[in-house]
Amino acid sequence: MADLIVLLGPPGAGKGTQAKVLSRELKLAHISSGDLFRDHLRRKTELGILAQGYMQRGELVPDDVTIGMIRERMQAADCAKGAILDGFPRTLPQAEALDRFLADSKMGAVRKAPYIKVAEQVLVDRLSGRWSCRAGGHVYHETFNPPKTPGTCDVDGSELYQREDDKAETVKNRIRVYFEQTAPLIEYYRGKGLLAEIDGAKPIDEVTGELLASVR
Ligand code: AP5
Repeated sequence: MADLIVLLGPPGAGKGTQAKVLSRELKLAHISSGDLFRDHLRRKTELGILAQGYMQRGELVPDDVTIGMIRERMQAADCAKGAILDGFPRTLPQAEALDRFLADSKMGAVRKAPYIKVAEQVLVDRLSGRWSCRAGGHVYHETFNPPKTPGTCDVDGSELYQREDDKAETVKNRIRVYFEQTAPLIEYYRGKGLLAEIDGAKPIDEVTGELLASVR
């Protein structure tokens, strides 16, 4: 049986930041649907070209395409022990498809769904100051988590850039889409007894501590 953890939370809650630490600590693969789409976009694959417009508008990429991409990723060897899912599922049909896939593939079931809770105004501040690295998707913030050298990733030395979809208008739409389409998943996982609410407004290290305690 694989160990599967679904990280929930609005855009900018800190899912990517925390998923990287959890993946290292728990020795599980880190699957970020946003990073996978951005990689397809960079490589100009058919999937990347399809996803581009949705991402630029801050809308969700259609379920069938997203589910197909994640199913394929989860069949890779590094997922045999389990994975931290960051950004997927994001709709009820995606959550149901994930459950079916885990059962059919004999991987098991989601073990825990920590929900990183952060107020809306904080999200806007976090996303407008975010810098991401091109090579490994490591994430910084110009005030809350600055790199040692501005513009350069501490981990792999690659260039830091600001995401196209972190512009104010797109951020507003991403947050709206989150409340409409993704927030219902909180009740979905609460109903299964898997939800753990985490206060995402605390400093990064404290959030990590709460998260680790919730999944260990
Ligand atoms: P995706 O890349 O998944 O974006 P997101 O969910 O909007 O999440 P973010 O990456 O913006 O935020 P995060 O929670 O990871 O926060 P982070 O750790 O970076 O998706 C992008 C797009 O792809 C979507 O809009 C959609 O189009 C498409 N897509 C992806 N998945 C899909 C799906 N399943 N279905 C359909 N479409 C999909 O932190 C943010 C900032 O805050 C950073 O600067 C960080 O340093 C800082 N920070 C983090 N924690 C703290 C803290 N505790 N205190 C202070 N600062 C902090």
